[in-house]
Amino acid sequence: MLLLALVLGLGAQNCPADFQGATHVMPFDEGTDAYGKATDSNVVTALQRALDQGQTKLQRDKDFGYLLSVLEKLKVPKSSQMLVFSKTSFQRDRISPRTPRSLFFNDDVYVGFIPGAPLLEVSVADPKMGAVFYTLDQSADKSVKFARTDQCLECHAASRTMGVPGHLLRSFVTEDDGAVDLSTGINEVNHRTPMKDRWGGWYVTGTHGAQTHQGNLIGAAAFERQKKEPNFLGNITNLSRFFATSRYPGGQSDIVALMVLEHQTHMHNFITRLNFEAETTLRQYGHVRYLDYIIDPFLKYLLFTEEAPITSEIKGASHFSQDFTALGPRDKRGRSLRDFDLQTRLFKYPCSYLIYSADFDCLPKPARDRVYERLWEILTGKDTGPDFARLTADSRRAILEILAETKTGLPDYWRRAGK
Ligand code: HEC
Repeated sequence: MLLLALVLGLGAQNCPADFQGATHVMPFDEGTDAYGKATDSNVVTALQRALDQGQTKLQRDKDFGYLLSVLEKLKVPKSSQMLVFSKTSFQRDRISPRTPRSLFFNDDVYVGFIPGAPLLEVSVADPKMGAVFYTLDQSADKSVKFARTDQCLECHAASRTMGVPGHLLRSFVTEDDGAVDLSTGINEVNHRTPMKDRWGGWYVTGTHGAQTHQGNLIGAAAFERQKKEPNFLGNITNLSRFFATSRYPGGQSDIVALMVLEHQTHMHNFITRLNFEAETTLRQYGHVRYLDYIIDPFLKYLLFTEEAPITSEIKGASHFSQDFTALGPRDKRGRSLRDFDLQTRLFKYPCSYLIYSADFDCLPKPARDRVYERLWEILTGKDTGPDFARLTADSRRAILEILAETKTGLPDYWRRAGK
């Protein structure tokens, strides 16, 4: 398998590094505020509380168990469905090209469902703790419960998740049954990963012109054929030739949802990493003046400065793009950080919408203040360094204006920009 991957040209890691030491695992489970002992407080714990207090109920249906009800209560759109067939995760014996695992997500929660599997899997971007994991027993009748489990950290807290409890996304060459050699493949897919290296082990629906990717390719023969016929199994909008799509709530594995997920998982991990680094530095020195070596790369990711270019228009196959964009917020001129471009890049205004998230707002204040200060310098054009040169003057101005009007908690000097 290793040989196969080498022949097919999958390198171990093709993304630029974030900062020196970014993949070192942090000692997050030690000391008084150890991860394992901390109290989780997030959208899932809030739903569990409402369930315990009898304020709400989850409905089970015969096809999907509690999935649809969980998605509805957590406000996760069905249109975000994506399908992964590589045997790469927790209930991997149940995953194959004929029974892929479906994943659904919104800004702070991710839900995994495999038809017939005993457990729903959930990960949440907990504002304080980083990713926290739960399972939900699909067969439970009365006392249905999101059970927190830290055993998931075996894979979800490693160099691939920036050394903190986090979210994962990978791209593999698979065998015919979806098996992979875990030591090969692209370790971490995010918005920097060239399109041609993405989506090995995933189904992908939607159109993308002449650009190639590795989605929908199952087994070595398919990869070989794609070398000769570049868009073999690309640009498809129907997956029924591969498996029974009716066993899933949506028929699609939407290309735009996948691209948003790839931006988002790494952004969440980066927010957590910055949070943990800032806490450590504040304990040690009482200030964050030594953190610029992390804050600048953080801003480079937040502002998509190294995003892999899109070379032909991308169109999703589900309602995801519309559902995602509708969430706003919008400024007076109707602009939103959630507006898509999809011609040359993912978003029209390249600044992550996760700047509105609870985990961003939970960064220790001195670190958040420094992020705002550097962001201000970049967006007002005071920073002329090469790191941010890719951001045009128009983009900088638009992002500055949108944030000044829509982002709560900005320092006072930002308000002037919106006037
Ligand atoms: C053997 C390694 C492994 C273990 C153990 C594991 N996962 Fe994952 N998980 C992955 C990989 C790899 C992905 C990326 C998508 C894929 O390949 O299925 C992933 C993705 C996910 C996602 C999608 C968003 C995200 O957070 O990355 C969820 C939700 C998830 N896992 C939940 C869980 C839960 C809950 C557990 C524990 C009960 C768990 N996982 C244990 C490997 C693992």
